[in-house]
Amino acid sequence: MAVASGVKDREVTAERLLAASAKHSFDPLKDIDWAAPLLPDTYFIAEERCTLYGTRTWDRMSGRQRIDLSRHEVASTASVGIWFEVILMQLLIRHAYDQDMTSRHVQYAFTEIADECRHSTMFGRMIEKFEAPNYGPGKHAHELGRVMKTIGFGIQTFAAALIAEEILDTAQREMMQDVTIQPLVRGVARIHVIEEARHVRYAREEVVRRAPRLNRAEMAFSRLVIARSAHVIARHLIHPGVYAAVGLDPKLARAEARANPHHHETLRAWARRLVAFFEENDLMAGPGLALWRRSGLVAPDYRPPAKALAV
Ligand SMILES: [Fe+2]
Ligand SMILES: [Fe+2]
Repeated sequence: MAVASGVKDREVTAERLLAASAKHSFDPLKDIDWAAPLLPDTYFIAEERCTLYGTRTWDRMSGRQRIDLSRHEVASTASVGIWFEVILMQLLIRHAYDQDMTSRHVQYAFTEIADECRHSTMFGRMIEKFEAPNYGPGKHAHELGRVMKTIGFGIQTFAAALIAEEILDTAQREMMQDVTIQPLVRGVARIHVIEEARHVRYAREEVVRRAPRLNRAEMAFSRLVIARSAHVIARHLIHPGVYAAVGLDPKLARAEARANPHHHETLRAWARRLVAFFEENDLMAGPGLALWRRSGLVAPDYRPPAKALAV
């Protein structure tokens, strides 16, 4: 009975999401003025969100170097966004393969895949406009992503979607309102935030429906896969090549960024909503907690609330 009503709810949600998509979707190739020049002397993300902000190296950098670093960091995050969207598209296609193709639930999955195709095109254009390389997440994460997109399923699909979508969404909500940064970044963030709000709703409801149906072993395995995904995504948002691009030693600068309390605060601020949601659904527990702590998305002494520990 609970499953039947869950499926009905699922159709109601999908119907609403389809209606919202029909009303409010974008074509970034037409809706963004790609020919407009970038503004001179203007950051690409708020300077306090740069990974080196507040460090000794930051103090020594010129204004030009700082702005260039912000350009490369936004490009790196966008390239990791594309990497993740490509994984998600495949996970969603594989999810749909086993479902009723006439259901609104599957039709929304197809709509979301179409959104992600346009987003990845938009991010690719933005990286090109920034004259930055396609940094990507690095070789190791690239191969882990290949495994995830090939065998990930069920709750893992939707929880992994939320990790990337919620972190990026929180970051982009700040960007779209920040009138001091490049208008192109604000415009891209605005389109992504509006369309991703629907994806977040779709994935959250699926996690809420699926979590209570997992047996002990499935729950333990899912928590670990989710923790590993969070660790990989968070640790690879910024490619060390961004530091080399502005004349810094990539190894030293990355170590400094990873020890930077300002950067820790940024990661935790961007992950707060996601972590609260996983806590509510008992997904923050078990051996994966060590990965969460190392990811920087929670404090190094993080402990989930008692409810999550009880299971
Ligand atoms: Fe997207
Ligand atoms: Fe999405």
